[in-house]
Amino acid sequence: MSKVTESAPANIALIKYMGKTSSADNTPTNPSLSWSLSHLVTEVEIESSSGEDRWEPLVKPGFDTPCLSEKGQQRFLKFASHLKSVWGVEQSVVIRSANNFPADCGIASSASSFAALTKAMYAFARAVQAQAPEFSLEDLSRLSREGSGSSCRSLFPGWAIWENQQAHAVEYPIPDVAHSLILLSEEKKTVSSSEAHRLVATSPRFKMRPERAKARLQSLDKALRSKNWVLCYGLVRDEYIDMHELFETSEPAFSYRTDESKKADTLVQTLWREHHDGPIITMDAGPNVHLLWRPDQLELAKEFHKKILNDMPSARLILSPHFMREL
Ligand code: DP6
Repeated sequence: MSKVTESAPANIALIKYMGKTSSADNTPTNPSLSWSLSHLVTEVEIESSSGEDRWEPLVKPGFDTPCLSEKGQQRFLKFASHLKSVWGVEQSVVIRSANNFPADCGIASSASSFAALTKAMYAFARAVQAQAPEFSLEDLSRLSREGSGSSCRSLFPGWAIWENQQAHAVEYPIPDVAHSLILLSEEKKTVSSSEAHRLVATSPRFKMRPERAKARLQSLDKALRSKNWVLCYGLVRDEYIDMHELFETSEPAFSYRTDESKKADTLVQTLWREHHDGPIITMDAGPNVHLLWRPDQLELAKEFHKKILNDMPSARLILSPHFMREL
């Protein structure tokens, strides 16, 4: 009997993957850039078994069952079977997984779960087969992309850039950032991100989208290299608004932005105006709001968290370990 366990983090894209040139293997229409959220992880355990491959929730303190629908389980198992064929794994397996954060509400749970599944199946193949070939993190990233596009960035800690087939790690002189998630809704998304990729192609704004995303990525890369935080803030805010405008001008149009997420954005803008400093703000395909802070901004961040909880009583905060002393 063999049993392996691996985990992978969620990641938040600052330049977004939105739109595919091939939905069969998740080839993106444009490059993207992300920060991995090492405190928000999926853990996957794979154990040899008998009968059909199956998925089960992983029971572990501090972890929740991902809300894997029947369709979600099938997608996960189908990809597991693809990975088995890549590494010639023949035995049946039971795959157990769990997240330490709420799934399907804009925290990119497919990214961490598919990256963790790819890592776990690779570890399993290496455990059961002496001859299993060696795969680099880039190789694993390329494979993971075929399961869920954004997962290819979750193979790397810190900053990652995904161009074409796989992602790679990238170093900037801002090696650490704190993360606050303003959780406004834990409801399951009505339009999944996979559907969103298909629908945005109907927006008139989609035609020039690859050029806009590429230009913004170039500018953001320069801004991060030169630690120009205010420029990063402007570029990343423009980028998330660009993506949400694609959603809102699709046929049929759909939207994840709510009055509450717009209010959080306004509070961030006010903070910047008053302090000439503030967090990078972005939103994924969901109503929740992500903030990134430099480590020297923690006091400002703590004050802002109090304001959010005071002005938006229905909001919940999920914070990176940088803030643990606050709780
Ligand atoms: C809005 O990776 O979930 O989070 O490849 O169909 O699984 P599939 O899509 P997915 O798309 C995530 C899109 C996004 C932006 C991003 O993470 O870049």
